[in-house]
Amino acid sequence: RSRVAVLISGRGSNMAALIYAARADDCPYEVAVVASDKPDAPGLVLAEAEGVPIARLPSAKDKTQFFAGLQSALEAAGVDLVALAGFMRIIPDDFLARWEGRIVNIHPSLLPRHKGLKPHQACLDAGERITGATVHLVTAELDSGETLGQVQVAVLPGDTPDTLAERVLVAEHQLYPRILGQYLGRTRDFDWISNKVGELALTLPESR
Ligand code: GAR
Repeated sequence: RSRVAVLISGRGSNMAALIYAARADDCPYEVAVVASDKPDAPGLVLAEAEGVPIARLPSAKDKTQFFAGLQSALEAAGVDLVALAGFMRIIPDDFLARWEGRIVNIHPSLLPRHKGLKPHQACLDAGERITGATVHLVTAELDSGETLGQVQVAVLPGDTPDTLAERVLVAEHQLYPRILGQYLGRTRDFDWISNKVGELALTLPESR
């Protein structure tokens, strides 16, 4: 099974969804480690209670040290893929470059609509009838990497940002483990193909 690191900043309900989904025998990943930029994130208590290792990291006040510590922790845990789950920090370019194609995020809107903070407020302000959530690859540009999967959620009359967030969250919990599993299958096929291409190249007859 692929080894996934989950990065959180707060409650960690998406992290919990990823952990619980991984308990199914046919889940293609396991949550190898959870890390946070906030040492008092409630999600860490949950991860610990569920028996998932927690990375002890340097304070996020020093961004360089924090991400260097995170990189070491991910390497030590043999992580294949990083899943952001309510991780509210801009990630430095050098870290992103190291994890290119292997770092994903969930955002509570139908991207490319409503990137950044307060997507639910923005959705209501725009008078939209449908919103949702998106799982996407993380790139240097905020909330703009390739979309891997989306789920739609209806906006109800009288919805506030909080009531909408609560309903979208239910949909997020279904979406994230499913899309993560699919994407891991896709990258595994890709690795297999590129390995084959390498082998074929090695067995080509030498030119005379
Ligand atoms: C989730 O709704 C997630 O989509 C959102 O924060 C919440 C975290 O909740 N993420 C973003 O807005 C990222 N830009 P959780 O800690 O319970 O998973």
